[in-house]
Amino acid sequence: GLGDVYKRQRLERLKKEDSMENREKFSSRLGFILISAGCAIGLGNVYRFPITTGAYGGAFFVLIYIAFLVLLGIPVMTAELAVGRASQRSIASSYDVLEKKGQKWHLAKYLGIAGNYLLMMFYTTISGWMLIYFIKYADGSILAYKSAEELGAVFGTMISNPVLMVCATFAVILVCFSICSFGLQKGVERITKWMMVALLLLMVGLAIYSCTLSNAAEGLKFYLVPSLKSLENSGVWTVISSAMGQAFFTLSIGIGSIAIFGSYIGKERRLLGEAVTIVGLDTFVALMSGVIIFPACFTYNGGVTADAGTVGASFLFTTLSSIFNSMPGGRIVGALFFVFMIFAAFSTVIAVFENIMSFWLELTKLSRRKVALINIALMLVLSLPCVLGFNVLEKIQIAGKGIMDIEDFLVSNVLLPLGSLVYVLFCSRKYGWGWKNYIGEVNCGEKGAKMPGWIRPYFTYVLPIIVIIVFIMSVVG
Ligand code: ALA
Repeated sequence: GLGDVYKRQRLERLKKEDSMENREKFSSRLGFILISAGCAIGLGNVYRFPITTGAYGGAFFVLIYIAFLVLLGIPVMTAELAVGRASQRSIASSYDVLEKKGQKWHLAKYLGIAGNYLLMMFYTTISGWMLIYFIKYADGSILAYKSAEELGAVFGTMISNPVLMVCATFAVILVCFSICSFGLQKGVERITKWMMVALLLLMVGLAIYSCTLSNAAEGLKFYLVPSLKSLENSGVWTVISSAMGQAFFTLSIGIGSIAIFGSYIGKERRLLGEAVTIVGLDTFVALMSGVIIFPACFTYNGGVTADAGTVGASFLFTTLSSIFNSMPGGRIVGALFFVFMIFAAFSTVIAVFENIMSFWLELTKLSRRKVALINIALMLVLSLPCVLGFNVLEKIQIAGKGIMDIEDFLVSNVLLPLGSLVYVLFCSRKYGWGWKNYIGEVNCGEKGAKMPGWIRPYFTYVLPIIVIIVFIMSVVG
């Protein structure tokens, strides 16, 4: 039909572009690593990780989370990188390039595209909160409020102001798409590289500072020494399923947001090593943010008071703010903390926007500039439900969840696991791209760890089962 003709023409056009070798590449390996890590490292690490760790009792949760990063995160990431590098495409056409004639794997592109937009529909709102809190610390206006109640009211007033919230979210969208509109090297790579280095330095500094606080030891004990009591409190399965969900979210695997960066690298290095480095950096940042937060909680707040039902935004914006506001030098520490939140959040937003841009660049003939403009407009509209869900649209709820929580649930518990499942099946099954092609691509290169052949049964049978269990558990539970 007409669709087929159109598709063939498009693939031919893409092939022609390839032969002209005009696909932009990263200028250095460091750029690739820092940007992929920047995509993974975000609010998931510095915001969601300490919140869920606090809610589910500390060290045991952390151990299970790390186990899932290794069991599930690293292999799925190699699958994404391999598909990206082999196809030289984003998820919008990578399956089209690699699948055999007549197959339907390419339908997964809709899942990927939806996932990237949906993630940004609420992520930009939280990023906007970070922006406002940074300003509140920079100008010192928030220091007048000390108690958690007062600070809760400050947060409540902020999110219930639709005009302010829309402006902050729009600022995030405008800044990040503008950076993307300059292209991969001149925009994305240049900005994200220094943001990530600054983020890592800032974190180490704040972590050292936190460890000198008077009750630091108690906080670190809660965080790092497993106690069975905490498991009993929240229930073993709840802890396991939230640790799995957190592992998916923190790497944002399954929707092609990492695959795109696989398409910007050369064949010099094997992909297992690269995946381990990215996951390692991501885990380092998550663990560090715990080292920053828990000693402070136990010193200024008498421990982690939040329980699973009430954690969330309140933890960061009321508990942590009350800590900053009662510690010496709190204004500077608070401002630095929110700068680092902004860096973490923006590096993710920029990476995902780059992915969204490449969907359009592959599926249409528009220029980078035009695509950026169209998506600024689109994203402004798409971000509104979440922003307004805290004020004008407050009444809209499903099963007690507001719009942000619904969007988060759809991404973390539905699209990421399903998308990961498709990647794993595609890379391991004969009726997909197949194991031979996958392992050939992963191990292509002279440097870096090699994916061992004995992993095949695990990859083909065990991994999909784990992902299916996560999916069912988190949707049912
Ligand atoms: N992977 C991104 C994060 O952790 C979504 O924030």
